[in-house]
Amino acid sequence: MKLKFLGHSCFLIETGGKKLIVDPFITGNEKAGDIDVDSIRVDYVLLTHGHQDHVLDAETIAKNSGAKIISNFEIVSWYKEKGLDGHEMNHGGSWSFDFGELKYVNAIHSSVLPDGTYGGNPGGFILKAEDKNIYIAGDTALHMDMQLIPVTSGTPDLAILPVGDNFTMGVDDALHAAEFVKCDKIIGCHFDTFGFIEIKNKDRAVARFKEKGKELILPSIGDEFTL
Ligand code: NI
Ligand code: MN
Repeated sequence: MKLKFLGHSCFLIETGGKKLIVDPFITGNEKAGDIDVDSIRVDYVLLTHGHQDHVLDAETIAKNSGAKIISNFEIVSWYKEKGLDGHEMNHGGSWSFDFGELKYVNAIHSSVLPDGTYGGNPGGFILKAEDKNIYIAGDTALHMDMQLIPVTSGTPDLAILPVGDNFTMGVDDALHAAEFVKCDKIIGCHFDTFGFIEIKNKDRAVARFKEKGKELILPSIGDEFTL
């Protein structure tokens, strides 16, 4: 399985011969100016919740690709009204796709679509494919339900956690989240895109995780990872 960081909370994932993009926010991200959204082709667009900094380029990418949107019921219904294809899920549910299995799990946050339509409750995903298990938390506070993840879905090989604070967990709570999900390898996201979520001391953040035997990666746009 390959992952590529496209800025903010956006990841391109290649697994099981398919391409997935998570939370595409590229044209609105000054730091992602080098990425040509019109050239992106994927099989699936995964959306954790309806906020603009997660869905901004979903329609363009899905249309260009003929991709299926996977999210909660309210978000997928909104895209289906625009003529796009999608697969609705809701919290606690899993489905086997042609690339692997997804479970839609709890997040503590809010969710409204860009035109003000109710976006349902926000969530995250557990992706199981090619014998790997990835927890994609979405925008969330630290919450106790994270402790259920290793119990019900097994220990993640990788957790993608928001770490930018203000709108989501910050670094210190993300470390508790990593402990709750029993995961030692963390990729941080939702940081540095704009002012409120800047991580001023990245060395301290990485060191805090290291003290607990965990690796925190704070990726740059374009960074690639193989699991
Ligand atoms: Ni959000
Ligand atoms: Mn966000």
